[in-house]
Amino acid sequence: MSDDLAGKVVLVTGGGNGIGRECAIAYAREKAMVAILDRDITTATRTAADLSSPGLAVQGDVSNGEAVKQAIARVLEKFGRIDAVHNNAGIASPSKPLHETTEEEWDNLQRINVKSVYWTTYHAFEALSASKGAILNTASMVGIIGQQDHAAYVATKGAMISLTKAMAVDYARYSIRVNAICPAGVWTPMLEHWCEEQQNPESIRKYLNDIHLLGYCPRGDVIADAAAFLLSDKARFITGCILPVSGGAELGYRR
Ligand SMILES: NC(=O)c1ccc[n+]([C@@H]2O[C@H](COP(=O)([O-])OP(=O)(O)OC[C@H]3O[C@@H](n4cnc5c(N)ncnc54)[C@H](O)[C@@H]3O)[C@@H](O)[C@H]2O)c1
Repeated sequence: MSDDLAGKVVLVTGGGNGIGRECAIAYAREKAMVAILDRDITTATRTAADLSSPGLAVQGDVSNGEAVKQAIARVLEKFGRIDAVHNNAGIASPSKPLHETTEEEWDNLQRINVKSVYWTTYHAFEALSASKGAILNTASMVGIIGQQDHAAYVATKGAMISLTKAMAVDYARYSIRVNAICPAGVWTPMLEHWCEEQQNPESIRKYLNDIHLLGYCPRGDVIADAAAFLLSDKARFITGCILPVSGGAELGYRR
């Protein structure tokens, strides 16, 4: 245990479950005060209660600008500052090619995975500017290399990667760093659900272990350790970085 995030206030979206929950726990372990914004208040409250430093759970949908505005106001009211926003909340369904995706499914993915970054940035910018803070986006390796039968989701992750670079360029003058983390597979409720959507879930589970060169599909702790580093002052000269935390899943032609 160290105190790399001591004194910092971190807002993590989707911190009630999966990768966001692991990140919230890691940030608190590094002595940050952590606010969790999640549409599921039950899991968000559970995560906040499990933290080793002061936490706050706020119910809200990240695709709703007014909800994000109110959540950020509550974080500022409780902690008085925001040093980092981790845009992590996201959805991955549906798993189908683009022409089978409905307009509602497309819009839903865009609103939750991409427009949410606009809303948190819009409403937290002043606080982040004051703290010379950091933004971290949970993107995905598929946003770089693509994925079969998942086009609408892949498009959102590609957009997060482009946004990360554009925001890093724009916000360097405010000393705000902007980075993205790209997992391949991580065992979370989302991945379990994605497996169930596939034709042969059991063979997909084996495939998920096999694609990671380091030999297994991880849990969120591997993402959380990298995320805590990127939000800490140890990464003070890193911005615009699209960091794979993927066990080498994307590397090389395989035999
Ligand atoms: N699990 C993986 O294999 C994997 C791989 C690459 C990228 N990712 C990305 O990591 C992020 C987290 O994924 P996960 O696997 O932990 O998912 P998860 O479904 O297990 O957890 C997501 C959390 O976000 C919350 N959430 C979802 N939509 C929300 C909304 N509109 N407003 C507020 N909260 C909302 C959920 O309630 C839940 O607590 C996502 O952006 C996902 O695209 C996941």
